Amino acid sequence: MTHRSRQTYDHLVVSTRRPPVIIDTGTGYTKMGYGGNIHPSYIVPTAIAVNPSHDQKAAVKKKGAEDLDFFIGEEAIERSKTYAVHYPVRHAQVENWDDMEHFLEQVIFKYLHCEPEDHYFLMTEPPLNAPENREYLAEIMFESFNVPGLYIAVQAVLALAASFTAKKSRKTLTGTVVDSGAGVTHIVPVADGYVIGSCIKHIPIAGRDISYFIQSLLRDHETTIPPEDSLEVAERIKEQYCYVSPNIAKEFDKYEKEPEKWVVTYEGLHKKTGRKWSCEVGHERFLGPEVFFNPQIFSSDYLTPLPEIVDTMIQNTPIDVRRPLYQNIVLSGGSTLYHNYAKRLERDLKKFVDARIEKTIELSQGRLIPAPIEVNVVSHKLQRYAVWFGGSMLAHTEEFFKVCHTKQQYDEQGPSIARHNPVFGGITI
Ligand SMILES: Nc1ncnc2c1ncn2[C@@H]1O[C@H](COP(=O)(O)OP(=O)(O)OP(=O)(O)O)[C@@H](O)[C@H]1O
Ligand SMILES: [Mg+2]
Repeated sequence: MTHRSRQTYDHLVVSTRRPPVIIDTGTGYTKMGYGGNIHPSYIVPTAIAVNPSHDQKAAVKKKGAEDLDFFIGEEAIERSKTYAVHYPVRHAQVENWDDMEHFLEQVIFKYLHCEPEDHYFLMTEPPLNAPENREYLAEIMFESFNVPGLYIAVQAVLALAASFTAKKSRKTLTGTVVDSGAGVTHIVPVADGYVIGSCIKHIPIAGRDISYFIQSLLRDHETTIPPEDSLEVAERIKEQYCYVSPNIAKEFDKYEKEPEKWVVTYEGLHKKTGRKWSCEVGHERFLGPEVFFNPQIFSSDYLTPLPEIVDTMIQNTPIDVRRPLYQNIVLSGGSTLYHNYAKRLERDLKKFVDARIEKTIELSQGRLIPAPIEVNVVSHKLQRYAVWFGGSMLAHTEEFFKVCHTKQQYDEQGPSIARHNPVFGGITI
């Protein structure tokens, strides 16, 4: 056996013995776990708290990063009074790679309890990520953690694969992904597993903005909420009680006529005094997510509704993929979980599509009658962490090990191997 073939064989031994590790580092939450599982092992806030009295740079130079005094996730947030809390990901892009490296260190050793040398890793990136970011990630994974293999997958493609579990799913890697998390909402066209990069749209409205909006609405009529907790309270209220309504004028009427049916009471505990407090939640319940459909109620800078953006995006793609892109619009991320979100998006999008068909008929004076276009918005049970679950599914296929970059390739060619990624083609699940 030659040296080269033994190397290849060694990687296969590693790959078949240990499940790959899947890590999706979102702006708000990091989902982590092992390939082949349905649920991530942990979902933790993408936050790191560093002891400010600790001279980090000196510590790194002298003893190595493992001596830094830091926490991640909920443990980091709990220490926000005494430690400096940083959020390494902003608007889906990693902004501080030193923080990210420390964050990943605890993800791997403290949460997943794994030896990174023994597992292939699947990490995620947002669409239109800079190639340098992929290089930094490859450097960290291969050099600091010594992983044997790495695949950096585009979040939208993984979300599309995750939708295969849905009843309505067409089980194809052609579709439009609406991925809305904490920091950004991406609308991404994917054709045969390839992202059509030039057509991607993003809107600057996502979960955090909805929480700010609810916080400001509550401030107008509730005085009992402790000011220091008000954003967290708004976020909890949003997650528990908000829904998308078909028509806000009618919704206001419903609250007017039967407040006892619609207004809910939220109860909290004052963190410092332990005292109970409560507040009433009314119109916030439907006005929060309405921001996606009528952004002018929240912002004076950003005014285009989500369904219109999806429609314009699909109209910009090559003509032969437009129909399949309308037929398979897949939801992903925490901010798509509102009750009736899929229904409203589908309904509003259909209005644009039907209006265009009618216009064509009118302009051609009835001589051109286009075939109807099917608009299908796909929801499924694993939408909350669709990106992670899609990664888990893909890492469970034999093809995964073929598309990974290996440590051997990294040692031979350096970080530039991560500039371009092979993409999954036809996947059989
Ligand atoms: N049931 C729910 N209803 C509405 N919003 C929710 C619900 N559950 C979670 N969220 C919101 O979803 C957001 C987190 O979603 P997700 O984990 O997909 O984002 P992320 O991956 O961290 O961010 P991004 O994809 O923008 O980088 C938060 O703003 C959270 O408040
Ligand atoms: Mg995300």
